[in-house]
Amino acid sequence: MTASPRRVAIFGATSDIAVAFARRCAEAGNRLVLAARDEPAMARLAADLKVRGAAEVSTLTIDFADRALLPGVADDAVRALGGLDVALIAYGLLPDQARMASDPLAAAAALDINFTSPALLADLLALKMEASRGATIAVITSVAGDRGRQSNYNYGAAKGGLQVFLEGLRHRLYKAGVNVLDIRPGFVSTRMTAHLPQKGPLWATPEKVAADIESAIVRRRAVLYTPWFWRIILTIVRCLPRPLFHRTGM
Ligand SMILES: NC(=O)c1ccc[n+]([C@@H]2O[C@H](COP(=O)([O-])OP(=O)(O)OC[C@H]3O[C@@H](n4cnc5c(N)ncnc54)[C@H](OP(=O)(O)O)[C@@H]3O)[C@@H](O)[C@H]2O)c1
Repeated sequence: MTASPRRVAIFGATSDIAVAFARRCAEAGNRLVLAARDEPAMARLAADLKVRGAAEVSTLTIDFADRALLPGVADDAVRALGGLDVALIAYGLLPDQARMASDPLAAAAALDINFTSPALLADLLALKMEASRGATIAVITSVAGDRGRQSNYNYGAAKGGLQVFLEGLRHRLYKAGVNVLDIRPGFVSTRMTAHLPQKGPLWATPEKVAADIESAIVRRRAVLYTPWFWRIILTIVRCLPRPLFHRTGM
């Protein structure tokens, strides 16, 4: 008897990391539901995923900044596939820290899309998924959430808050057998970081990160640093004594 195809929902499906993950899922014959705001890009992605072998692909158009739409997108995603085995929340944005102090509306919007929205969506998905023993709620945070730094503390605070939220959600879902995976990438060559040089040994491809996400889901890991060496780097960064830390340009 063949196992039924895995049911995967991807929120923020047009993100470069999400696309790489969706392609792996398609090649494994999974059933997919994609949610994103860029409808034409999502339609192109859905067609590509079908060609790559997805058993089924449906799409939901949504701006994740609109909180009122979050319960509907969680409901629709679960209904589209008759339950979920994996939900991946991938959307986010990297704001210009220098602008944040003088533009409270932009700063609040960045905190919202990087913390409030994904946290609320994860909670809504948990309500739908807690009856599905063995399921995974995976959320992309960032190594930036591990310590507040002068260069990106709006983004870092949102991602750090999301890490703590996921820790609590993981605790809550433990008895239900639903795993909550906190994905902490380092530097990844995507549209988000296109303004940076994207060169050197610390930079990873979205495909490498997607492979690490897949393996962390299968192994039911709680926290994934991807690539692996960021766990060591962040251990050092967190341990740096404050007087030394303050002298760095990080
Ligand atoms: N790249 C890195 O170095 C890095 C490192 C650590 C963590 N991360 C995290 O990884 C995740 C994926 O980012 P990425 O690197 O793949 O960058 P990306 O390709 O720029 O993806 C970001 C995605 O978020 C979506 N998005 C932003 N605001 C949205 C909104 N209001 N409604 C709907 N969608 C919205 C964007 O949609 P559009 O396509 O419509 O713009 C885009 O698809 C993010 O959470 C990011 O913070 C990235």
